[in-house]
Amino acid sequence: MVCIRPATVDDLLAMQACNLCCLPENYQMKYYFYHMLSWPQLLYVAEDYNKKIVGYVLAKMEEDASEVHGHITSLAVLRSHRKLGLASKLMRAAMAAMEETFGAEHVSLHVRVTNRAAFTLYSETLGFEIHDVEHKYYADKEDAYDMRKMFETGLKKQEAGRQKKKDKEKVKENQKEKEKEKDEEKDKEKEEKDADKDKDKDKEKDAAKEPAEADNTAGDAAEEEKKKKQRKKKGKK
Ligand SMILES: CC(C)(COP(=O)(O)OP(=O)(O)OC[C@H]1O[C@@H](n2cnc3c(N)ncnc32)[C@H](O)[C@@H]1OP(=O)(O)O)[C@@H](O)C(=O)NCCC(=O)NCCS
Repeated sequence: MVCIRPATVDDLLAMQACNLCCLPENYQMKYYFYHMLSWPQLLYVAEDYNKKIVGYVLAKMEEDASEVHGHITSLAVLRSHRKLGLASKLMRAAMAAMEETFGAEHVSLHVRVTNRAAFTLYSETLGFEIHDVEHKYYADKEDAYDMRKMFETGLKKQEAGRQKKKDKEKVKENQKEKEKEKDEEKDKEKEEKDADKDKDKDKEKDAAKEPAEADNTAGDAAEEEKKKKQRKKKGKK
């Protein structure tokens, strides 16, 4: 029977021994102490019935300018105890503490691109996704997947961010629509004013034409009178 429990300072040496057995990425004891003193809630061990530490998870919190998130520093289970679900349980315990104690928005980790067991554990069992590939991340120049899993708080924040963006776009669209309507109104007013001006101009032109036409009519009448007189004279003759 193996139990998963929070790690204590007394477990640190055994955790380091387990790390040395399982991974090429090793740390000085002061790094374990740093984790234990800073984020004791995020360190868990798997202990067998003989009180032997057979697995551990070492995690920390990182506070970027925009968000709080957890990071898995190291995870390992002794070969003799693998495929029993221990790593899954250690990870879930650390992730729950990140969310509940520190309000983490997501959890991140690095894994070698060739580490099939760990990659399957993270992606299929725990729902992590590849966020990025970091070239030559490890000392031996192997690439790492930068993997992430969003927590409820992070998902809500993302959704709120998306909604805010949508709302901003809507406000912008409304503003554009209003400006368009204003421009159209202005154009209409201008067209009406121009039409009025044209009408006034036509009226002025007509007014200017009328006396000339009147003169013509007077001229025609005089001509007609002259012709009448000539006809009369002819008649008399
Ligand atoms: C990766 C490691 C921590 C997994 O520990 P574990 O306790 O055996 O993992 P679990 O039993 O919780 O396995 C959960 C799932 O992970 C996957 N998995 C685990 N070992 C696997 C393997 N050898 N090959 C493929 N998938 C594997 C499986 O999907 C498994 O689910 P399943 O048992 O239903 O098939 C362990 O193999 C280990 O310590 N490896 C060396 C150290 C290491 O690589 N650490 C991770 C560094 S990023």
